Amino acid sequence: MAKKKVMVGVTGGIAAYKAADLVSSLVKQDIDVQVIMTEKAESFISPLTFEALSGNPVWQDEFSPGGGLSVPHVQLAEQADLFVIVPATANTLAKLAWGLADNLLSSIALVYNKTLLIAPAMNTNMYNHPAVQENLATLRRRGVRIIEPASGRLACGATGVGKLAPVEDIVAAIRWHLFEPKGLQGKKVIVTAGGTREAIDPVRFIGNRSSGKMGFALAEAAWLRGADVVLISGPVGLAPPFGVTCHYVESAAQMRQLVLDHYEEADIVVKAAAVADYRVANPGTQKIKKTDNDLELLLTKNPDILKELGEKKRHQVLIGFAAETEELLANAQEKLVKKNLDLIVANDVTRQDAGFNADTNEVTLLFPDGKQEPLPLMSKESLAHHIFQVVEQLPRFKRN
Ligand code: PMT
Repeated sequence: MAKKKVMVGVTGGIAAYKAADLVSSLVKQDIDVQVIMTEKAESFISPLTFEALSGNPVWQDEFSPGGGLSVPHVQLAEQADLFVIVPATANTLAKLAWGLADNLLSSIALVYNKTLLIAPAMNTNMYNHPAVQENLATLRRRGVRIIEPASGRLACGATGVGKLAPVEDIVAAIRWHLFEPKGLQGKKVIVTAGGTREAIDPVRFIGNRSSGKMGFALAEAAWLRGADVVLISGPVGLAPPFGVTCHYVESAAQMRQLVLDHYEEADIVVKAAAVADYRVANPGTQKIKKTDNDLELLLTKNPDILKELGEKKRHQVLIGFAAETEELLANAQEKLVKKNLDLIVANDVTRQDAGFNADTNEVTLLFPDGKQEPLPLMSKESLAHHIFQVVEQLPRFKRN
């Protein structure tokens, strides 16, 4: 992400301490953060904390500004790419809804004319009060994005809605708003990730080394680029990407069913999952007992999900991955044609720094017209964005 400027407004609620985590996380992502605190916020957390984390002076009072700006409420508003208020108290929500400008934060909000994100946090009864709900409705109507509070145990001891949304979700929402271009806006993307498991009996399975990293990076990239994303994943140890609808499956048969359920309305399908080509013909219904003899398993062929999608293809853009240990390009080319794909990503999985479980990947893209694009080693996140950048330029994608 290029260096962007985010203003973080902190108001006087107990969740103010979580804004420190947010600022730290944004700074680590190379975002320039300016913190604006209300007077009451200082009762909960020291400005020094934010100064140390952001590396910038903290803005508190527009009449004794410091920090080198003569009219801070105007200059800060003009410089920022995004303004986020975390946490937002009922009092600040009311000021914003009614257009009051009695402190630096509310004054900036009146000058600022780009996207405003607000993460409210307060007691459940306060949050549910019609006055607060009407103020939130007013703000939503004006285009303010509300990051809904979560439910849980609140600082006041009550349990209910009003807890600040998880900081990771707020970071994700900020990244989404900062990310450009939104070339997949209005598009529906299916991504498959991870490896399938084919049962031998209730406790054992045949699996593979896929970690899901490639597929999850693709799902997040598509979401950041504006798509409505469905991620269908085998069992993995990764946190679900924010904003993405996740379905978890075990077997190839379950993955096939879910992919087909979503296929009709999909614009793009990316099959990064490592799907088992075979399953056990007669899996045990009970745990298979050890004997003195060898055990033979009869394997039967699984459906080739991607090939089936290729046969049913109408408007969809289909992208496959080819995980190969030999004859990389020839094998990938054969799969591109056999599965009627618009693009295949040829992945040499013998390497340590590419393919299964690595954080990086080095691949070659193959197209139906015979064009090949070898790519250098890069993070799976960068590769995911590159793939969608390429897809956004495909004539078939542009036509639909
Ligand atoms: O998950 P990671 O640890 O990050 O690793 C990433 C990866 C190595 C799994 C990924 O980059 C990758 O290469 N995925 C494809 C793995 C694979 O199954 O390749 P394949 O050559 O066997 O299959 C070709 C294509 O057909 C794939 O898109 C696959 O999803 C699809 N397929 C395969 C078999 C089958 N029965 N149904 C399918 O849809």
